[in-house]
Amino acid sequence: MINQTNEILITEEQIKKRVDELGSQITKDYEGEKILLVGILKGSVPFMADLMRRIDLDVEIDFMSVSSYGAGTTTSGEVKIKKDLETDIAGRNVLIVEDIVDTGYTLSLLTKKLLERNPKSLKVCAALDKPSRRLVDFKADYVGFEVEDKFIVGYGLDADQKFRHFPYISWIKEE
Ligand code: IMP
Ligand code: MG
Repeated sequence: MINQTNEILITEEQIKKRVDELGSQITKDYEGEKILLVGILKGSVPFMADLMRRIDLDVEIDFMSVSSYGAGTTTSGEVKIKKDLETDIAGRNVLIVEDIVDTGYTLSLLTKKLLERNPKSLKVCAALDKPSRRLVDFKADYVGFEVEDKFIVGYGLDADQKFRHFPYISWIKEE
């Protein structure tokens, strides 16, 4: 199977500690407010599940699926909504939960689209950030870890749909 040979970049323990910190920070920042967490499928699934349980607020969740990557490992620079929200976000505090900010295309285009729906607020929480790969100006409001320019797998991140289930963050060599 995989590539258990590539080193673990971020361990399960490190992830847990950082998610605790993010949850506390978000709880503090939104004190007295309701919040809608919007997970971007499928990469955000483990992060969403962990983070939501660390937020001590009136929380609801929803999911959407967008495409920006094909089966390969390059970005298209376009975002298409494949599965939309079930929730009307007008007047809501929306926090997008995403696996990684890479070129920045997905989140810069997606936040523009969602802002047209007039949320009360819109912020982004990404498990990972690869700032060295940025092609458009985009900064997440909350970031778990900065990673170097490697193709990351695990904790939701895939290579051709595989390895999302790894509880740690690792990397593979791009073909
Ligand atoms: P961006 O639009 O280039 O910022 O990339 C957004 C999407 O590309 C992420 O949500 C991931 O699904 C995918 N992606 C970017 N970098 C990686 C990586 O290192 N491993 C796996 N998926 C990645
Ligand atoms: Mg993704």
